[in-house]
Amino acid sequence: MNILVVGGGGREHAITAAIACSRKDPSIYAVMSGKNPGIAALCEDFLLEKETNVEKVVEFALSKNIDLVVVGPEAPLAAGLADALEEAGISVASPCRKVAQVEFDKAWARNFMKDNDIAGCPVFEVFTDRDAMDAFIDKLGNVAIKPAGLTGGKGVKVMGDQLPDIGAAKEYAAGLLDQGSVVVEENLVGEEFTLQAFVDGRSLAFMPTVQDHKRAFEGDLGPNTGGMGSYNAPGEMLPFLDAGDVDSAKQIMTDTVNALYRVTGQKYRGTLYGQFMITKDGPKVIEFNARFGDPEAMNVLPLLESDYVDVLCAMASGTLDQVDVRFSKKATVCKYAVPAGYPDNPTKDREVVVGDIGDAILFYSSVYEKDGKVYTTGSRAVAVVGVADSIQQAEVIAQNALEHLSGDLHYRSDIGKADLIQRRIDHMKEVRG
Ligand code: AMP
Ligand code: GLY
Repeated sequence: MNILVVGGGGREHAITAAIACSRKDPSIYAVMSGKNPGIAALCEDFLLEKETNVEKVVEFALSKNIDLVVVGPEAPLAAGLADALEEAGISVASPCRKVAQVEFDKAWARNFMKDNDIAGCPVFEVFTDRDAMDAFIDKLGNVAIKPAGLTGGKGVKVMGDQLPDIGAAKEYAAGLLDQGSVVVEENLVGEEFTLQAFVDGRSLAFMPTVQDHKRAFEGDLGPNTGGMGSYNAPGEMLPFLDAGDVDSAKQIMTDTVNALYRVTGQKYRGTLYGQFMITKDGPKVIEFNARFGDPEAMNVLPLLESDYVDVLCAMASGTLDQVDVRFSKKATVCKYAVPAGYPDNPTKDREVVVGDIGDAILFYSSVYEKDGKVYTTGSRAVAVVGVADSIQQAEVIAQNALEHLSGDLHYRSDIGKADLIQRRIDHMKEVRG
């Protein structure tokens, strides 16, 4: 079998590594904008090209007789890559444009949730006009402001975090109107978690829940990033969740997949990512993504006991109910090493040297290889993952690995440590009252 992976980050390295473990021994190909050395080492061949260049990706897939494609990032999905591949007769384990809209158009996604009575939708409205928007911001009093389109995780601002007061919220929202519609919604208070599922249009196979860390600095300070690291506990639950929380989140995702089919006439095929805030009223949806999370893919894929290629084929063909999707009941801690100054003023083109990382798994992200050496680009560079029987043990493995990377790098030591996890548990106790 010939399988093509589109994308060149840490998430796609994890996807490629999981495919490479398949008993089916597939030949792997990749399209990525820069040469990720981890992916390149697992591939027969790769094309260095923008992942959104739909025509070039389809041409490459046809030239390599590709049987199945997995698309890692959201931008090519929004560009209609899955649709174009299917038109060319190639199977895809990622969603077509109409259903991927649930990620790339936040206004559409919120209206879709409301119109279809999907539980967990915060109070929101979508605006194209400043006066009505200001009145709604006043009415809610405490808000999150979101541009409707894709912003790489950097467009959302929340009061109490990036927005000091109502005046700042109105100013920020007004500035966004030039680029399109703006979503204003209630500021949800609680703890965030990620629930991902393999989806074939009808059935969902859920993965263990994961918690990501968006803030750049220790103690959850500093600007938002793509995600500095993440962890999961053995089994499907995080330490601050109740079984009922996860059940409600699963129901929300199942209802979403069914409603997407009703509304668009297209089946959602691929990984669906639910980002939830667990509030005093149960889980609320922060957003859906039409793909794996980065870093969350690196937590769950190393735990997948089933053959990933079987899962991919089943998602593409609508036969997921015939696959026994299982994850080993282990904890993982994933930590990113990022360029110093990331995300606001990252250093670039600095060499990264990987020393003895012990039992950790290493995934390359936004780096490039030149003359056998690896360099940073300004985005998240290298992720390390510890897998063990407890979060504590997994954290030690990941942390030790980070200390054996050299370069002009920064990372968060606190991710996965007992103190931070206890803070999450205490916070949730307080929120639940
Ligand atoms: P997003 O790009 O939608 O993932 O949002 C980025 C971050 O903003 C999330 O990880 C949350 O921490 C925060 N956020 C988004 N929406 C809300 C909301 N309604 N209430 C509180 N925080 C939010
Ligand atoms: N880790 C957040 C995301 O992938 O969107």
